[in-house]
Amino acid sequence: MSVLFRPIKIGNIEIKNRIVRSATHIARNTVDGFVTDKKVEYFRELALGGVGLIIKGFTYISPDGRPFPLMSAIYDDKYIPGLRKLVEVVHSQNNGCKIAVQLSHAGREIGPGGYRDEVPMAPSSVIDPITRIVPRPMTISEIHNIVESFSEGARRGYEAGFDAIQLHGAHGYLLNQFLSPHTNLRDDEYGGTLKNRCRIIEEIYQRITDKIPKNFPILIKMNAADFLEDGIRPDEAVEMAKIFEKIGFSALEISGGMWEAMMKFKKKAFPPEARKISDDPSEHAYHREHAKLIKKSVKIPIIVVGGIRFKSMAEDIIKSNDADLVSMSRPFICEPDLPNKWKNGITDRSLCISCNKCCDDAINSVIQGNAYPGIRCLMRKKIDKLNQNV
Ligand SMILES: Cc1cc2nc3c(=O)[nH]c(=O)nc-3n(C[C@H](O)[C@H](O)[C@H](O)COP(=O)(O)O)c2cc1C
Ligand code: SF4
Repeated sequence: MSVLFRPIKIGNIEIKNRIVRSATHIARNTVDGFVTDKKVEYFRELALGGVGLIIKGFTYISPDGRPFPLMSAIYDDKYIPGLRKLVEVVHSQNNGCKIAVQLSHAGREIGPGGYRDEVPMAPSSVIDPITRIVPRPMTISEIHNIVESFSEGARRGYEAGFDAIQLHGAHGYLLNQFLSPHTNLRDDEYGGTLKNRCRIIEEIYQRITDKIPKNFPILIKMNAADFLEDGIRPDEAVEMAKIFEKIGFSALEISGGMWEAMMKFKKKAFPPEARKISDDPSEHAYHREHAKLIKKSVKIPIIVVGGIRFKSMAEDIIKSNDADLVSMSRPFICEPDLPNKWKNGITDRSLCISCNKCCDDAINSVIQGNAYPGIRCLMRKKIDKLNQNV
């Protein structure tokens, strides 16, 4: 049997294989953050497709933390019933698929159609050159409130029945803004040393475990590199990973990039962590080396995301012990049943060509609101046609 289909434990739960659907904002929520029936059906298809763990996309823990329209909210108990439907549809497939919720806050990274009623807050007043937003620095009591909001989000996630929680500590959003020396210029207990920059994460973790059982798996998605001169670098990320392990996290998902780093890549990519890549294998699995570095320094499971398109490459990552699980986003937009295809030997390659047309189209969610059909592969028909002609 392929190593990809060997089960693994994350905290106290068993993941039936090594394939994770990385958190992906697919819209299909109402403008005020409620899950729709379309979303429930989307999750049914994902669960049926054979993935081991689905990480539900960006779920904002306070109203001012929403970077884009049509995202899911978790800042009030009124959102629990809708979120529970997602959990139920996944579990009712009875094939062992697990589901986690990603708790998130945008901080200064507010895109078109995101929350703009007030000036966005962040650890420090560092301009985002992409959006031109100059955030205001958070007060200590605002930091305490955010800690509370994350923990309340976790409690709601637990009550909705999710199998795990993931904190979104990557991609330049609020928690990444605290972790990164590029965006955190504070000189109080939340800034400066790495330990201080990690303090908010530790406080959130502790507060969550005050509210839900201590053995409930809590994961974090982190940047191994911000890809900015003065941002998080891989050597510092290794130290950060050790701190996260000590805090008690059950697994780390290794990613990278902030919005303002997007211009650095060969082909402009938005979101920057979802890079446009060609068929050249050297462009694939672009966080693998960083995951490998971190994997050597901690004992908890490492999940690696970013440009994984081939079953053979995914197997090689696991066999080489560079990571314990592989995580994908765009391949699932294109082909929710990719894990089953890999399991049944139908294909080695994901059909996704990493063109990001699905991401570019998301701008229509700003214009169309509730009428927006949701993020979907805009190339699939063309790809299928091309493959038929080969
Ligand atoms: C449409 C879209 C939405 C995304 N939404 C999220 C999100 O909500 N949370 C997150 O952590 N990453 C999000 N990402 C990033 C992915 O999880 C992943 O890190 C990135 O796309 C690289 O993986 P891939 O090459 O398999 O697509 C999103 C990516 C895409 C394409
Ligand atoms: S539009 Fe389709 S092929 Fe292009 S990146 Fe999105 S999912 Fe992949």
